Amino acid sequence: MKKEQLQYPPLPPAVTGRLLDWYSMHRRDLPWRESTDPYRVWVSEIMLQQTRVAAVLPYYRRWMEALPDVAALAAVEEDRLMKLWEGLGYYSRARNLQRAAKVVMEDHGGRFPDTFEGLRALPGIGDYTAGAVASIAFHRPVPAVDGNVLRIAARLSALGEDILSPGGRRLFTDMVAELVPPDRPGDFNQALMDLGATVCLPNGQPDCGSCPLAALCAAHAAGRETDFPVKRKKQARRREEMTVYLLLREGRIALRRREARGLLAGLWEFPHIPGTLTEEEAAGPLDRWGLTPLQWRQRITARHIFTHVEWHMTGYLLEVRGTGADFTWADPAALETLAVPSAFAKYLEAAKAALAQRRPASSPS
Ligand code: ADE
Repeated sequence: MKKEQLQYPPLPPAVTGRLLDWYSMHRRDLPWRESTDPYRVWVSEIMLQQTRVAAVLPYYRRWMEALPDVAALAAVEEDRLMKLWEGLGYYSRARNLQRAAKVVMEDHGGRFPDTFEGLRALPGIGDYTAGAVASIAFHRPVPAVDGNVLRIAARLSALGEDILSPGGRRLFTDMVAELVPPDRPGDFNQALMDLGATVCLPNGQPDCGSCPLAALCAAHAAGRETDFPVKRKKQARRREEMTVYLLLREGRIALRRREARGLLAGLWEFPHIPGTLTEEEAAGPLDRWGLTPLQWRQRITARHIFTHVEWHMTGYLLEVRGTGADFTWADPAALETLAVPSAFAKYLEAAKAALAQRRPASSPS
């Protein structure tokens, strides 16, 4: 296929060599860099989307012990999978990992596709992840462009294209693609990741004094590092208020499963209804659930910020009796195995504490 004419001045070719030299000295020792096994690389890249390295490390270790290869991931039971992901957020990532693992097992005989296009066709794998896995695990000379790399390219070029627009992303991706060395594509892409994470930092704090590319950087030459990258304004987050019920019944607590689609799909949650209700108002729905309050114990407020929504929660911990047939009544052991999203972390702690406090029932009723 004929290459289209480039619509921008290219980045200096010297970037590649300087970056690789710097990487040889400064590369971070990270567990997913100990091998080029595509499974290990892929899982790390998915975990690292929207999540910092330090937060990923314990999850990654635990995951690799529990699910050491793609066959184990394809076969694992859903609640165990979600438990391994609990707290990392953006749970569709874990589901897509398993969906892709099943495709690899069923359609590719357990071996990962070894090209950008083959990887890109798997569930949950976008341009960035396909580029990262193709370059790191299979030495394909393709770029892996995430927000860090866009920031570096925008500063190196001092171009004001919006990095969040498809056109801007395309432009900077093409610029970086020109620099990927055929002999060390994985090192090159990971060097950019490390530079973005440790030197060319976001929020107006680049450490240009430590940067191997400072002399090649147009933004630095103009003293305008903090003017780049240009991003369009974020949309305001939607605010949702809700009343959360921690319903205790005979040493168990009420949980229900979220819908199979949408935010936090399929995870377990405490029952809740829209709006911030007083204790008196909150008693209303109990009747509908076939429950009678015995003792209201505690009011606990919490907040959780997602990308597009923020939850403002008012929770009530109370003892109840009755059927509550809509719910799963979890004992402390079940609570340890069901994945409850971190949005409810404060309530999960309160629930565990309340269940732990309860003395064993003295006699059967
Ligand atoms: N962020 C995303 N991918 C990464 C990787 N492979 N190493 C370090 N940080 C990353």
